[in-house]
Amino acid sequence: MKVFTFVLSAMMLFFCLAPAQALDYGKIELPPPQTDGGMPLMRALKQRQSRREFSDKELSLQDLSNLLWAAFGINRADSGGRTAPSAHNAQEIDIYVAVKGGLFLYDARNHMLEPVLPEDIRPATGQQPFVKNAPVNLIFVADHLKMEGMTGEEKDFYAATDTGYISQNVYLYCASVGLATVVRGWVNKLTLTKAMKLRPSQTIILTQTVGHPEY
Ligand SMILES: Cc1cc2nc3c(=O)[nH]c(=O)nc-3n(C[C@H](O)[C@H](O)[C@H](O)COP(=O)(O)O)c2cc1C
Repeated sequence: MKVFTFVLSAMMLFFCLAPAQALDYGKIELPPPQTDGGMPLMRALKQRQSRREFSDKELSLQDLSNLLWAAFGINRADSGGRTAPSAHNAQEIDIYVAVKGGLFLYDARNHMLEPVLPEDIRPATGQQPFVKNAPVNLIFVADHLKMEGMTGEEKDFYAATDTGYISQNVYLYCASVGLATVVRGWVNKLTLTKAMKLRPSQTIILTQTVGHPEY
């Protein structure tokens, strides 16, 4: 029994201390998000801020799981409701995840990452130098095909508004666990659209860098 407890403790210590690995390109099943506990909301709000100095340390798969679920995961399995609201419940925003190992698409329904491109497109996700080395750059992309019946003006307005809620969820999650983040509009959308090989119905709204703080 003592040996078992020792081995179990050693394994737990190993997994706590083991450095997070870079994501390999391919389908990635995310661990279930940790939806209990965490920092009280009012304290997270007190700490929310934009930070632009990132270490190149990878995020753990659990961090990524929690981050994406907080951003726009499914929080009501029966209705498919999400952690952020969307106009007409169109749920038109897709979250792409650019990491060293490639470009992935967050599949909220199955809580997994779908591989999109095997290249490291982080340098194309913005004009600021930190985007190249920060471990995660999120790209919020609206799919206009999911917004049928709306005028062009409504689509633009709602896609931008809906992205704001998702981005703030990312800010609050990062504040709650001590990660650094900044939402970014300063991006060459044409270059990034090409790098991501987006479909004509897809529009980049904003990007957001996430990582461990440098200091
Ligand atoms: C729509 C939007 C676009 C932004 N674009 C950028 C950007 O491209 N680069 C950047 O460093 N910060 C960007 N920011 C972050 C703002 O500069 C930041 O929120 C502002 O200075 C206030 O700082 P705070 O977030 O720490 O309160 C953007 C913020 C918003 C809401």
